[in-house]
Amino acid sequence: MRVLGIESSCDETAAALVTDDGEVLADVVASQIAVHSPYGGIVPELASRAHMKAIIPVLREALDKVPGGLQRVDAIAVTQGPGLVGSLLIGVQIAKALAWSLGKPLVGVNHLDGHLFAIYLRRPGKEAAVLPSMPFVGLLVSGGHTALYRVQDFDDIALLAQTRDDAAGEAFDKVAKLLGLGYPGGPIIDKLAARGRPDAIAFPLPMASRKTLDFSFSGLKTALARHIQREGVPEDDQALADLCASFQAVIVESLVRKSILACQQEGMDQLVITGGVAANRGLRARAEEVCADNGIRLFIPPPISCTDNAAMIAMAGACRLAAGERDDLSFAVYSRDPERRRGRFRSDGTLIERT
Ligand code: KG4
Ligand code: ZN
Repeated sequence: MRVLGIESSCDETAAALVTDDGEVLADVVASQIAVHSPYGGIVPELASRAHMKAIIPVLREALDKVPGGLQRVDAIAVTQGPGLVGSLLIGVQIAKALAWSLGKPLVGVNHLDGHLFAIYLRRPGKEAAVLPSMPFVGLLVSGGHTALYRVQDFDDIALLAQTRDDAAGEAFDKVAKLLGLGYPGGPIIDKLAARGRPDAIAFPLPMASRKTLDFSFSGLKTALARHIQREGVPEDDQALADLCASFQAVIVESLVRKSILACQQEGMDQLVITGGVAANRGLRARAEEVCADNGIRLFIPPPISCTDNAAMIAMAGACRLAAGERDDLSFAVYSRDPERRRGRFRSDGTLIERT
């Protein structure tokens, strides 16, 4: 089965063709970085307009890459939420129109499920990687979310903990803005941190208690803002790299420690780290080290599968389709994931059991 995935929840317009066993046949992502970077963050109205402009060319490009194109699409999966409503609507409306006109099955996919199941994608030219079996602990760390899940099955995902304030990616982006580094901040800070000293400035580790799995990053952002108020933004290259490395090290340490704690509490020896921030080299390296020390097998998708893409949406959609699930053309988008609090939830966000 070939699934056409469509993603437009935030600032990437993406389309992909993926087989039901995860082989990526085509994967096209149009980024809106140039549109939003003058503002240091995403401007929702501009995002919707950019999606409208990009969606048809992106779909064409993806379909043209695969012999048979649209004729050989068996089903369509589209991001239903969470995300920016105006942005989501562009992808969802086109997915509904295509499904209706082609007479093909359609499924709405939770964007967060897409990130979690990106680990099962197989990209051309890449050696077959060892894949995790379910259940596993998933750390989803992106611009909009930072959360730990127990992933029991594709439709049985329990939220274990999440950030109490900023997402980790949001903290990277806000700090980069404070430092005048540009948008998105994560990749820029990642690059600078690689040549900085992580112990140059001692920022406090948030939520250090082993009693909670929750994250918090706004205090760290404030600590850095105070540091800049006192000392100014470093003019010297090395001092800037040191500041970035010290900030990044605290985020990484918090993410890794809570993930290990979650694995221990859940009695699991497999950890999947995914989402845009999982592209961070410091996080990848530290997670490998700590997982090895704790006997935990670590799985992180390649960076291209970590940041927003439509292949992950097709993958998560393929799981729903394989279970015989379908959505009719009347489903609505959702901006937040309000139901996914602590408990066991179906992939559409409805509660199975409160824990
Ligand atoms: O998953 P994603 O593409 O979109 C959301 O669903 O939010 O994640 C985007 C976030 C941004 O905050 C960006 O700064 C961050 O991921 N990011 C990184 C890196 N690459 C992207 N953060 C740290 N290091 C990176 N290399
Ligand atoms: Zn995302």
